[in-house]
Amino acid sequence: MYNLLKGKRGIIFGALDQNSIAWKVAERAHEEGAIFVLTNAPIAMRFGEINALAEKTGSQVIPADATSMEDLENLVTQSVEILGGKLDFVLHSIGMSINVRKGNHYTDQNYDYTHKGFDVSALSFHKVMNVLYKHKAMNGWGSIVALSYMAAQRVFPDYNDMADNKAYLESVARSFGYFFGRDFKVRVNTISQSPTPTTAGTGVKGFEDFLSFAEKMSPLGNATALECADYTITLFSDLTKKVTLQNLLHDGGFSNMGISDAIVEDYLRE
Ligand SMILES: NC(=O)c1ccc[n+]([C@@H]2O[C@H](COP(=O)([O-])OP(=O)(O)OC[C@H]3O[C@@H](n4cnc5c(N)ncnc54)[C@H](O)[C@@H]3O)[C@@H](O)[C@H]2O)c1
Repeated sequence: MYNLLKGKRGIIFGALDQNSIAWKVAERAHEEGAIFVLTNAPIAMRFGEINALAEKTGSQVIPADATSMEDLENLVTQSVEILGGKLDFVLHSIGMSINVRKGNHYTDQNYDYTHKGFDVSALSFHKVMNVLYKHKAMNGWGSIVALSYMAAQRVFPDYNDMADNKAYLESVARSFGYFFGRDFKVRVNTISQSPTPTTAGTGVKGFEDFLSFAEKMSPLGNATALECADYTITLFSDLTKKVTLQNLLHDGGFSNMGISDAIVEDYLRE
């Protein structure tokens, strides 16, 4: 390892189980010398797996519903206290759509579910940054990252209302990122990640087929959760200090492809 995060402090949202992208980021951040607080929704604590990660990485866990300003205020103030200073990095790795989960078609959503999904998956990023900004909780040259998906720009019908949530998430990274950059020299970016077999990912209809399609379309293949973690670590490190307001595609080249030989071969075989 490279000690890329030696002496840095952070908060990592969204480690549910070993497949979670946030789980891999926590393991990698620990290996790179960071100290951090792990957080997830109180309901996710029921599964208890996060405690194993906390033990492994020497971290404390503070439950917080990312839609609750009260929980977020508590999380940020406690984290600064526990870690012994302001934060250098924050990962927002949160996503959930009840419409996806219930199989509601995009054209016929339950709008109570749409509101809830938006609050959890998108608005929560604004709320997290609001609290960090208000409390002046980030150190200069710190880094805030959220995870996105390419359905924010292009049509993936089964991604449903999550596509709209990701479009908002990416926009907020730019809009809030301006104020964070201007006032605190903190950078804000989103990483647009390949489809990845996690709890949130596999909830999307036809996920396995899509995973295999994306694998065959991408010249480098799909990016794994661990590779996403590696990329995230570079964004938390001092090697990317002037990268901000960006949506960074981490997808093995998928987003710039039209068609690939492997996909044509599959098509001809049918
Ligand atoms: N898996 C994929 O294919 C893929 C692709 C691109 C982007 N992403 C994004 O990566 C991020 C992480 O997802 P993942 O794939 O690791 O799945 P995951 O299911 O492991 O993680 C999602 C996390 O969101 C948390 N969460 C849900 N509601 C919450 C709330 N109210 N407050 C706080 N946390 C809450 C869950 O407990 C869980 O830990 C999400 O933003 C997701 O949209 C995933």
